[in-house]
Amino acid sequence: MAKSTEHIHDYYSPDDLYTKIVEGLEKLELDLSKITLDDLQPVDEFHIRGDTATKELIELAGFTPDQHILDVGCGIGGSTRRLSHETGCRVTGIDLSDEYIHTALRLTELLNMQEQVSFEAASALALPFEDNSFDGAWSLQMNMNVEDKLLWLTETCRVLKPGGRAVLYEVCGSKNAPPYFPVPWAQNSSMSYLVPPDTFRDVMTAAGFEIAVFNDKTDLARAAFAHIKQPQGEPKLPVLGVYMLVGKDIGTKAYNLHRNLEEERVSLIETVAIKPA
Ligand SMILES: C[S@@+](CC[C@H](N)C(=O)[O-])C[C@H]1O[C@@H](n2cnc3c(N)ncnc32)[C@H](O)[C@@H]1O
Repeated sequence: MAKSTEHIHDYYSPDDLYTKIVEGLEKLELDLSKITLDDLQPVDEFHIRGDTATKELIELAGFTPDQHILDVGCGIGGSTRRLSHETGCRVTGIDLSDEYIHTALRLTELLNMQEQVSFEAASALALPFEDNSFDGAWSLQMNMNVEDKLLWLTETCRVLKPGGRAVLYEVCGSKNAPPYFPVPWAQNSSMSYLVPPDTFRDVMTAAGFEIAVFNDKTDLARAAFAHIKQPQGEPKLPVLGVYMLVGKDIGTKAYNLHRNLEEERVSLIETVAIKPA
């Protein structure tokens, strides 16, 4: 693993994640042989507005059942599985975190989706695939941890077939800086690399993409976090939640994300970009 991503890997490396999720499902008295995508949604869709956003992005993407899509920075695979389930397409997810990939594989077996959905531990900066391999690419809230955005996007473009589309849903910087830390994707500033939306767009173009859609989704993010209050005392955590992925200080991280959205320190975009034919 490249030294420059070790601190990111460490952040996304909880112990025994799959076991803890299964214990949570059992505590909720769910029958493990009948687990659904919705049962896992509180823990496996780790991005702003969760599966609501995933479903909107699936509509926007327009992927079809005959296609093979790459999910870059897939986490434990919630939106990877949702994308395959809703569209019928085959999806391969990659993520830097070995523990997340182990969990993604086990959860996919639990849901009996392994014929359509597969996973591999890899860095977005060195994708282990041939040129022109995939019909589409999909990345949900990964760029924040990627310092070399040009390399990541050039790699994504390389593995796409000509005419293939990349759908990205990403946190960017905004007018004011720096953000308050910790946030859900970073304990401190050493692992967060935000650029303003215009810069992000320019890097996509420099990587070889043509931008087809570029929407500001910050208002929806702000509304989703409007109710978040500063945590007081011991955290009251649900049985299943993304705290299992990045720590019990998730309340403080969510509150800081709320402040960063309100004070225009971060923004949220969705984009569809095409690799020219
Ligand atoms: C906020 S999570 C989002 C996960 C997933 N896309 C989702 O929406 O549930 C960010 C993910 O990006 C991954 N990541 C960060 N840097 C990466 C890199 N250079 N290569 C691959 N994955 C990376 C992390 O391991 C983490 O799983």
